[in-house]
Amino acid sequence: MLKVGIIGLGGIARSHCDSIAHLDNVQVVAVADLFEEKRQEYMDKYDIPKGYQTHHELLKDDEIDAVAVVLGHQLHHQLTVDACNAGKHVLVEKPMALSLDQCDAMIEAAANNDVKLMVGLSQHFYPTSVKAKEILDSGELGPLITAIAYMSKNWNYAGRRPQYRSRYHGGGMWLTNGIHVVDRLSWVMASQAVSVSASIGTRAHYQAADDSATAFIRYKNGLAGTAIAVGYAEGAPTFECQVICANGTLRFSQHGEKFVKVGKGEEWRDVPFADTPTEMYNEWKAFAEAIEQNIEVPTHGEYARHIMDILFSAEKSSLTGREVMLGNGPGWQTQTSGSPTTIHHGWI
Ligand SMILES: NC(=O)c1ccc[n+]([C@@H]2O[C@H](COP(=O)([O-])OP(=O)(O)OC[C@H]3O[C@@H](n4cnc5c(N)ncnc54)[C@H](O)[C@@H]3O)[C@@H](O)[C@H]2O)c1
Repeated sequence: MLKVGIIGLGGIARSHCDSIAHLDNVQVVAVADLFEEKRQEYMDKYDIPKGYQTHHELLKDDEIDAVAVVLGHQLHHQLTVDACNAGKHVLVEKPMALSLDQCDAMIEAAANNDVKLMVGLSQHFYPTSVKAKEILDSGELGPLITAIAYMSKNWNYAGRRPQYRSRYHGGGMWLTNGIHVVDRLSWVMASQAVSVSASIGTRAHYQAADDSATAFIRYKNGLAGTAIAVGYAEGAPTFECQVICANGTLRFSQHGEKFVKVGKGEEWRDVPFADTPTEMYNEWKAFAEAIEQNIEVPTHGEYARHIMDILFSAEKSSLTGREVMLGNGPGWQTQTSGSPTTIHHGWI
Protein backbone atom coordinates (compact mmCIF):
# COMPACT_ATOMS: atom_id res chain seq x y z
CA MET A 1 0.00 0.00 0.00
CA LEU A 2 1.41 3.40 -1.02
CA LYS A 3 0.77 5.85 1.84
CA VAL A 4 0.30 9.39 0.62
CA GLY A 5 0.22 12.90 2.11
CA ILE A 6 -1.53 15.70 0.20
CA ILE A 7 -0.02 19.18 0.70
CA GLY A 8 -2.35 22.09 -0.18
CA LEU A 9 -6.12 21.69 -0.06
CA GLY A 10 -7.34 24.22 -2.63
CA GLY A 11 -9.61 23.16 -5.47
CA ILE A 12 -7.70 20.43 -7.30
CA ALA A 13 -6.80 18.41 -4.17
CA ARG A 14 -10.35 17.07 -4.42
CA SER A 15 -9.62 15.43 -7.79
CA HIS A 16 -6.48 13.84 -6.34
CA CYS A 17 -8.41 12.41 -3.37
CA ASP A 18 -11.31 11.25 -5.58
CA SER A 19 -8.89 9.39 -7.86
CA ILE A 20 -6.92 7.79 -5.04
CA ALA A 21 -10.22 6.57 -3.57
CA HIS A 22 -10.62 4.37 -6.69
CA LEU A 23 -7.24 2.66 -6.25
CA ASP A 24 -6.76 -0.32 -3.94
CA ASN A 25 -3.00 0.15 -3.58
CA VAL A 26 -2.92 3.86 -2.62
CA GLN A 27 -4.22 5.53 0.53
CA VAL A 28 -4.20 9.14 1.72
CA VAL A 29 -3.03 9.00 5.35
CA ALA A 30 -2.47 12.74 5.95
CA VAL A 31 -3.20 16.19 4.59
CA ALA A 32 -1.57 19.57 5.20
CA ASP A 33 -3.08 23.01 4.80
CA LEU A 34 -2.62 26.31 6.61
CA PHE A 35 -6.36 26.49 7.30
CA GLU A 36 -7.97 24.30 9.96
CA GLU A 37 -11.39 24.24 8.23
CA LYS A 38 -9.82 22.95 4.99
CA ARG A 39 -8.02 20.16 6.84
CA GLN A 40 -11.17 19.18 8.67
CA GLU A 41 -13.25 19.24 5.48
CA TYR A 42 -10.90 16.80 3.72
CA MET A 43 -10.36 14.58 6.76
CA ASP A 44 -14.12 14.22 7.21
CA LYS A 45 -15.00 13.76 3.55
CA TYR A 46 -12.26 11.24 2.68
CA ASP A 47 -11.82 9.63 6.08
CA ILE A 48 -8.20 10.78 6.39
CA PRO A 49 -6.72 10.18 9.86
CA LYS A 50 -4.10 12.95 10.14
CA GLY A 51 -4.04 16.70 9.40
CA TYR A 52 -1.04 19.03 9.69
CA GLN A 53 -0.82 22.81 9.49
CA THR A 54 2.27 22.98 7.29
CA HIS A 55 4.21 20.76 4.95
CA HIS A 56 7.16 20.78 7.42
CA GLU A 57 5.12 18.82 9.96
CA LEU A 58 3.69 16.45 7.35
CA LEU A 59 7.14 15.66 5.98
CA LYS A 60 8.27 14.46 9.43
CA ASP A 61 5.58 11.73 9.37
CA ASP A 62 7.40 8.42 8.83
CA GLU A 63 4.26 6.62 7.75
CA ILE A 64 4.15 8.68 4.53
CA ASP A 65 5.89 7.24 1.43
CA ALA A 66 4.89 9.87 -1.13
CA VAL A 67 3.42 13.37 -1.27
CA ALA A 68 1.38 15.37 -3.73
CA VAL A 69 2.46 19.03 -3.88
CA VAL A 70 -0.79 20.71 -4.81
CA LEU A 71 -0.54 24.44 -4.25
CA GLY A 72 0.59 27.78 -5.75
CA HIS A 73 3.18 27.67 -8.55
CA GLN A 74 5.70 29.75 -6.61
CA LEU A 75 5.83 27.04 -3.91
CA HIS A 76 6.38 23.98 -6.14
CA HIS A 77 10.17 24.20 -6.15
CA GLN A 78 10.88 24.56 -2.43
CA LEU A 79 8.24 22.09 -1.29
CA THR A 80 9.41 19.47 -3.78
CA VAL A 81 13.04 19.86 -2.68
CA ASP A 82 12.00 19.65 0.99
CA ALA A 83 9.90 16.54 0.29
CA CYS A 84 12.70 14.79 -1.61
CA ASN A 85 15.14 15.61 1.19
CA ALA A 86 12.66 14.05 3.62
CA GLY A 87 12.84 10.86 1.52
CA LYS A 88 9.34 11.10 0.03
CA HIS A 89 8.43 10.37 -3.59
CA VAL A 90 6.82 13.47 -5.15
CA LEU A 91 3.96 14.12 -7.51
CA VAL A 92 4.06 17.89 -8.04
CA GLU A 93 1.35 19.80 -9.87
CA LYS A 94 2.03 21.74 -13.08
CA PRO A 95 3.75 24.04 -13.91
CA MET A 96 6.88 22.38 -12.54
CA ALA A 97 8.52 25.61 -11.26
CA LEU A 98 9.28 29.24 -12.08
CA SER A 99 12.74 28.84 -13.66
CA LEU A 100 14.93 26.17 -15.24
CA ASP A 101 17.35 26.48 -12.28
CA GLN A 102 14.49 25.55 -9.96
CA CYS A 103 13.60 22.58 -12.19
CA ASP A 104 17.23 21.43 -12.09
CA ALA A 105 17.31 21.67 -8.30
CA MET A 106 14.15 19.54 -8.08
CA ILE A 107 15.54 16.88 -10.44
CA GLU A 108 18.81 16.84 -8.48
CA ALA A 109 17.05 16.56 -5.10
CA ALA A 110 15.04 13.57 -6.34
CA ALA A 111 18.15 11.87 -7.74
CA ASN A 112 20.23 12.54 -4.59
CA ASN A 113 17.56 11.03 -2.38
CA ASP A 114 16.69 8.18 -4.74
CA VAL A 115 13.00 9.10 -4.89
CA LYS A 116 10.62 9.44 -7.85
CA LEU A 117 9.71 12.87 -9.15
CA MET A 118 6.64 13.05 -11.37
CA VAL A 119 4.98 16.25 -12.62
CA GLY A 120 1.19 16.27 -12.92
CA LEU A 121 1.00 16.90 -16.65
CA SER A 122 -2.51 15.55 -16.61
CA GLN A 123 -3.09 15.62 -20.39
CA HIS A 124 -1.00 12.47 -20.72
CA PHE A 125 -3.39 10.46 -18.61
CA TYR A 126 -6.84 11.32 -19.90
CA PRO A 127 -8.52 8.33 -21.53
CA THR A 128 -9.10 10.39 -24.70
CA SER A 129 -5.40 11.35 -24.92
CA VAL A 130 -4.28 7.78 -24.28
CA LYS A 131 -6.53 6.52 -27.10
CA ALA A 132 -5.38 9.28 -29.48
CA LYS A 133 -1.72 8.53 -28.80
CA GLU A 134 -2.35 4.82 -29.26
CA ILE A 135 -3.86 5.50 -32.72
CA LEU A 136 -0.96 7.76 -33.72
CA ASP A 137 1.66 5.27 -32.54
CA SER A 138 -0.04 2.37 -34.31
CA GLY A 139 0.93 4.01 -37.61
CA GLU A 140 -2.56 3.54 -39.07
CA LEU A 141 -2.74 7.24 -40.00
CA GLY A 142 0.72 7.27 -41.58
CA PRO A 143 3.46 9.79 -40.88
CA LEU A 144 2.61 12.89 -38.89
CA ILE A 145 2.49 16.23 -40.73
CA THR A 146 1.39 18.82 -38.17
CA ALA A 147 -0.82 19.42 -35.14
CA ILE A 148 -2.63 22.21 -33.37
CA ALA A 149 -3.56 22.20 -29.69
CA TYR A 150 -6.07 24.65 -28.23
CA MET A 151 -7.24 25.69 -24.86
CA SER A 152 -9.48 28.72 -25.00
CA LYS A 153 -11.75 29.18 -22.04
CA ASN A 154 -13.20 31.82 -19.76
CA TRP A 155 -10.39 33.15 -17.56
CA ASN A 156 -12.93 33.64 -14.78
CA TYR A 157 -11.09 36.72 -13.55
CA ALA A 158 -13.36 37.41 -10.58
CA GLY A 159 -13.03 33.89 -9.20
CA ARG A 160 -9.34 33.41 -9.97
CA ARG A 161 -7.06 33.58 -6.94
CA PRO A 162 -4.58 36.51 -6.92
CA GLN A 163 -1.44 34.36 -7.29
CA TYR A 164 -2.76 33.00 -10.60
CA ARG A 165 -3.27 36.58 -11.90
CA SER A 166 0.38 37.49 -11.16
CA ARG A 167 3.24 36.44 -13.44
CA TYR A 168 5.65 37.14 -10.57
CA HIS A 169 4.03 34.19 -8.79
CA GLY A 170 4.04 32.05 -11.92
CA GLY A 171 0.47 32.90 -12.88
CA GLY A 172 -1.19 33.92 -16.15
CA MET A 173 -2.86 31.82 -18.83
CA TRP A 174 0.39 30.71 -20.46
CA LEU A 175 2.02 29.08 -17.41
CA THR A 176 -1.27 27.95 -15.86
CA ASN A 177 -2.99 26.45 -18.93
CA GLY A 178 -0.66 27.04 -21.89
CA ILE A 179 1.42 24.32 -20.28
CA HIS A 180 -1.37 21.84 -21.05
CA VAL A 181 -1.42 22.68 -24.77
CA VAL A 182 2.37 22.70 -25.07
CA ASP A 183 2.55 19.37 -23.26
CA ARG A 184 -0.20 17.82 -25.40
CA LEU A 185 1.28 19.18 -28.62
CA SER A 186 4.83 18.02 -27.81
CA TRP A 187 3.54 14.60 -26.81
CA VAL A 188 1.66 14.03 -30.07
CA MET A 189 4.56 15.49 -32.09
CA ALA A 190 6.66 12.74 -30.46
CA SER A 191 9.80 14.84 -30.53
CA GLN A 192 11.72 17.50 -28.63
CA ALA A 193 11.26 21.17 -29.45
CA VAL A 194 14.18 23.03 -31.00
CA SER A 195 12.74 26.54 -31.29
CA VAL A 196 9.67 28.62 -30.59
CA SER A 197 8.17 31.81 -31.90
CA ALA A 198 5.27 33.31 -29.98
CA SER A 199 2.97 36.23 -29.37
CA ILE A 200 1.83 36.46 -25.75
CA GLY A 201 -0.14 39.29 -24.20
CA THR A 202 -2.71 40.56 -21.73
CA ARG A 203 -5.61 41.39 -23.99
CA ALA A 204 -8.92 40.86 -22.24
CA HIS A 205 -8.16 41.65 -18.58
CA TYR A 206 -6.41 44.14 -16.34
CA GLN A 207 -3.80 42.01 -14.52
CA ALA A 208 -0.03 41.60 -14.10
CA ALA A 209 0.05 38.38 -16.14
CA ASP A 210 -0.81 37.32 -19.68
CA ASP A 211 -4.20 35.94 -20.74
CA SER A 212 -3.51 34.94 -24.37
CA ALA A 213 -0.80 33.19 -26.34
CA THR A 214 -0.14 31.76 -29.78
CA ALA A 215 3.07 29.78 -30.26
CA PHE A 216 4.66 28.16 -33.29
CA ILE A 217 6.98 25.36 -32.19
CA ARG A 218 9.57 23.58 -34.35
CA TYR A 219 10.59 20.05 -33.40
CA LYS A 220 13.73 17.96 -33.83
CA ASN A 221 11.91 15.65 -36.27
CA GLY A 222 11.61 18.58 -38.69
CA LEU A 223 7.91 19.17 -38.09
CA ALA A 224 6.15 22.12 -36.50
CA GLY A 225 2.97 22.57 -34.47
CA THR A 226 0.86 25.38 -33.03
CA ALA A 227 -0.22 25.89 -29.43
CA ILE A 228 -3.02 28.33 -28.62
CA ALA A 229 -4.00 29.24 -25.07
CA VAL A 230 -6.47 32.04 -24.43
CA GLY A 231 -8.35 32.98 -21.29
CA TYR A 232 -11.06 35.16 -22.77
CA ALA A 233 -13.56 37.37 -20.92
CA GLU A 234 -16.55 36.19 -22.97
CA GLY A 235 -17.02 33.38 -25.49
CA ALA A 236 -17.34 29.59 -25.61
CA PRO A 237 -14.53 27.10 -24.93
CA THR A 238 -12.37 24.89 -27.17
CA PHE A 239 -10.05 22.24 -25.72
CA GLU A 240 -9.45 20.28 -28.87
CA CYS A 241 -6.26 18.89 -30.37
CA GLN A 242 -6.17 18.30 -34.12
CA VAL A 243 -3.50 16.14 -35.75
CA ILE A 244 -2.93 15.81 -39.48
CA CYS A 245 -1.11 12.76 -40.79
CA ALA A 246 -0.41 11.67 -44.38
CA ASN A 247 -3.09 8.96 -44.43
CA GLY A 248 -5.67 10.22 -41.98
CA THR A 249 -6.59 12.93 -39.51
CA LEU A 250 -7.37 12.87 -35.80
CA ARG A 251 -9.24 15.10 -33.33
CA PHE A 252 -9.59 14.58 -29.61
CA SER A 253 -10.91 16.47 -26.63
CA GLN A 254 -11.39 15.62 -22.96
CA HIS A 255 -13.15 18.75 -21.72
CA GLY A 256 -16.22 20.52 -22.98
CA GLU A 257 -16.98 17.81 -25.48
CA LYS A 258 -15.33 14.44 -24.81
CA PHE A 259 -14.37 12.49 -27.94
CA VAL A 260 -11.75 10.87 -30.13
CA LYS A 261 -12.44 11.08 -33.88
CA VAL A 262 -10.52 9.73 -36.84
CA GLY A 263 -10.92 11.30 -40.28
CA LYS A 264 -10.74 9.06 -43.36
CA GLY A 265 -12.58 9.10 -46.69
CA GLU A 266 -13.69 12.71 -46.07
CA GLU A 267 -15.62 11.66 -42.94
CA TRP A 268 -15.11 11.87 -39.19
CA ARG A 269 -15.72 8.63 -37.28
CA ASP A 270 -16.01 8.44 -33.46
CA VAL A 271 -13.52 6.05 -31.88
CA PRO A 272 -14.56 4.39 -28.61
CA PHE A 273 -12.20 4.69 -25.65
CA ALA A 274 -12.12 3.06 -22.23
CA ASP A 275 -13.17 5.81 -19.83
CA THR A 276 -11.68 6.00 -16.34
CA PRO A 277 -13.67 6.50 -13.12
CA THR A 278 -11.99 9.88 -12.50
CA GLU A 279 -9.73 12.21 -14.52
CA MET A 280 -6.62 11.65 -12.40
CA TYR A 281 -7.11 7.90 -12.08
CA ASN A 282 -4.45 6.97 -14.67
CA GLU A 283 -2.07 9.58 -13.25
CA TRP A 284 -2.14 8.09 -9.75
CA LYS A 285 -2.13 4.54 -11.10
CA ALA A 286 1.03 5.26 -13.11
CA PHE A 287 2.74 7.06 -10.20
CA ALA A 288 2.00 4.21 -7.79
CA GLU A 289 3.05 1.60 -10.34
CA ALA A 290 6.38 3.33 -11.00
CA ILE A 291 7.16 3.41 -7.26
CA GLU A 292 6.03 -0.16 -6.69
CA GLN A 293 8.04 -1.56 -9.59
CA ASN A 294 10.89 0.94 -9.35
CA ILE A 295 10.60 2.03 -12.99
CA GLU A 296 10.74 5.53 -14.50
CA VAL A 297 7.62 7.63 -13.95
CA PRO A 298 5.87 9.03 -17.01
CA THR A 299 6.02 12.88 -17.18
CA HIS A 300 9.26 12.82 -15.21
CA GLY A 301 11.30 15.85 -14.18
CA GLU A 302 13.39 16.06 -17.35
CA TYR A 303 10.37 15.94 -19.63
CA ALA A 304 8.55 18.56 -17.53
CA ARG A 305 11.68 20.75 -17.52
CA HIS A 306 11.68 20.62 -21.31
CA ILE A 307 8.05 21.79 -21.39
CA MET A 308 9.00 24.69 -19.07
CA ASP A 309 11.91 25.53 -21.39
CA ILE A 310 9.42 25.87 -24.28
CA LEU A 311 7.13 28.08 -22.18
CA PHE A 312 9.92 30.41 -20.98
CA SER A 313 11.45 30.59 -24.47
CA ALA A 314 8.03 31.53 -25.90
CA GLU A 315 7.85 34.41 -23.42
CA LYS A 316 11.30 35.54 -24.55
CA SER A 317 10.24 35.28 -28.19
CA SER A 318 7.17 37.39 -27.56
CA LEU A 319 9.25 40.13 -25.90
CA THR A 320 11.93 40.20 -28.61
CA GLY A 321 9.75 39.45 -31.63
CA ARG A 322 12.22 36.74 -32.69
CA GLU A 323 12.29 32.97 -32.92
CA VAL A 324 14.12 31.61 -29.85
CA MET A 325 16.33 28.53 -30.07
CA LEU A 326 16.07 26.19 -27.10
CA GLY A 327 19.13 24.90 -25.25
CA ASN A 328 20.63 21.53 -26.07
CA GLY A 329 17.86 19.84 -24.21
CA PRO A 330 17.82 16.82 -22.02
CA GLY A 331 19.51 13.51 -22.69
CA TRP A 332 16.48 11.53 -23.80
CA GLN A 333 15.96 11.23 -27.51
CA THR A 334 12.73 9.49 -28.34
CA GLN A 335 9.22 9.11 -27.14
CA THR A 336 7.64 5.72 -26.93
CA SER A 337 4.09 5.72 -25.80
CA GLY A 338 1.25 3.32 -25.29
CA SER A 339 -0.75 3.50 -22.13
CA PRO A 340 0.99 5.29 -19.29
CA THR A 341 -0.61 2.85 -16.91
CA THR A 342 1.47 -0.12 -17.98
CA ILE A 343 5.12 -0.85 -17.42
CA HIS A 344 5.64 -0.22 -21.12
CA HIS A 345 5.18 3.54 -20.88
CA GLY A 346 8.95 3.99 -20.94
CA TRP A 347 10.20 7.43 -21.83
CA ILE A 348 6.90 9.26 -22.26
N1 LIG B 1 -3.64 19.29 -13.59
C1 LIG B 1 -4.65 20.10 -13.69
O1 LIG B 1 -5.46 19.99 -14.60
C2 LIG B 1 -4.83 21.18 -12.66
C3 LIG B 1 -6.07 21.77 -12.46
C4 LIG B 1 -6.19 22.77 -11.48
C5 LIG B 1 -5.08 23.17 -10.73
N2 LIG B 1 -3.87 22.58 -10.98
C6 LIG B 1 -2.66 23.01 -10.24
O2 LIG B 1 -2.78 22.58 -8.90
C7 LIG B 1 -2.08 23.47 -8.04
C8 LIG B 1 -2.97 23.89 -6.90
O3 LIG B 1 -4.05 24.67 -7.40
P1 LIG B 1 -5.34 24.98 -6.48
O4 LIG B 1 -6.11 26.01 -7.22
O5 LIG B 1 -5.98 23.71 -6.08
O6 LIG B 1 -4.61 25.57 -5.17
P2 LIG B 1 -4.88 26.87 -4.32
O7 LIG B 1 -3.81 27.84 -4.62
O8 LIG B 1 -6.31 27.25 -4.43
O9 LIG B 1 -4.71 26.31 -2.82
C9 LIG B 1 -3.51 26.05 -2.22
C10 LIG B 1 -3.73 25.64 -0.75
O10 LIG B 1 -2.43 25.41 -0.19
C11 LIG B 1 -2.39 25.87 1.18
N3 LIG B 1 -0.98 26.11 1.54
C12 LIG B 1 -0.17 27.12 1.13
N4 LIG B 1 1.08 26.95 1.66
C13 LIG B 1 1.07 25.81 2.39
C14 LIG B 1 2.04 25.09 3.16
N5 LIG B 1 3.31 25.52 3.29
N6 LIG B 1 1.68 23.93 3.77
C15 LIG B 1 0.42 23.49 3.67
N7 LIG B 1 -0.56 24.12 2.95
C16 LIG B 1 -0.23 25.28 2.33
C17 LIG B 1 -3.30 27.09 1.16
O11 LIG B 1 -3.83 27.30 2.44
C18 LIG B 1 -4.39 26.71 0.12
O12 LIG B 1 -5.54 26.15 0.74
C19 LIG B 1 -1.57 24.59 -8.94
O13 LIG B 1 -0.24 24.30 -9.29
C20 LIG B 1 -2.45 24.50 -10.18
O14 LIG B 1 -1.84 24.99 -11.35
C21 LIG B 1 -3.75 21.59 -11.91
